Amino acid sequence: MKYILSPSILSADFSKLAEDTASAVRGGAEWLHIDVMDGAFVPNISFGAPVYKWLRPVSDAFFDVHLMIDRPERYIDDFLKAGADLICIHCEATQEIEAIAEKVHAAGKLFAIAVKPATPAEAIKEYLPLCDMVLVMTVEPGFGGQSFMANMMPKVAKFRALREDLGLDYMIQVDGGISLQTIGDAAAAGANVFVAGSAVFKPGETEKNARAFIEKFKTFK
Ligand code: DX5
Ligand code: ZN
Repeated sequence: MKYILSPSILSADFSKLAEDTASAVRGGAEWLHIDVMDGAFVPNISFGAPVYKWLRPVSDAFFDVHLMIDRPERYIDDFLKAGADLICIHCEATQEIEAIAEKVHAAGKLFAIAVKPATPAEAIKEYLPLCDMVLVMTVEPGFGGQSFMANMMPKVAKFRALREDLGLDYMIQVDGGISLQTIGDAAAAGANVFVAGSAVFKPGETEKNARAFIEKFKTFK
């Protein structure tokens, strides 16, 4: 299993986004997690495509775009054009999952579905063949710096079991409260892509923090 760190830029210093994200990449992060929030699907507003498009020409990282917005089908073209490598939508936010997956795949990019803590794995079972990744939220989406919900680990394990049963090969991502203390549980349950915001981005420590996660991966079997 390949383990991937996807630092969430929500915790970066937006006055020096290029510098901060480059530090995370120097520490070994291959992905950057880009949290788009609309103030409707979640009770917070972050930024949209016009912000991260400026990062695209200065970063070789894989752009993992997590859309916490209502009816994301309205903006998929914009998010693709701004440089997303993967688009992750919430199943609770749209009736158009198949059409979005088709559009993302037609552009040669990866498609993922996220589930909020209250949404069971079974809710997206029929869509799993369309998924390159599933995202199990380990906090209520909306804010960085919240506590990890260990009670989401059975859901991670359920997605791993479904992958086996259905003969699929999607990645499993966890997002929220991931730290050097909590990541082991998530890996043991079957996650292989780890979002971490507040545990990575800290002034002067970002590169070192990212590297500590990469070192930690070596302890997983
Ligand atoms: C929460 C976001 C997360 C958040 C993670 O809604 O989806 O990506 O930035 O932040 P930490 O790692 O601080 O919990
Ligand atoms: Zn996120």
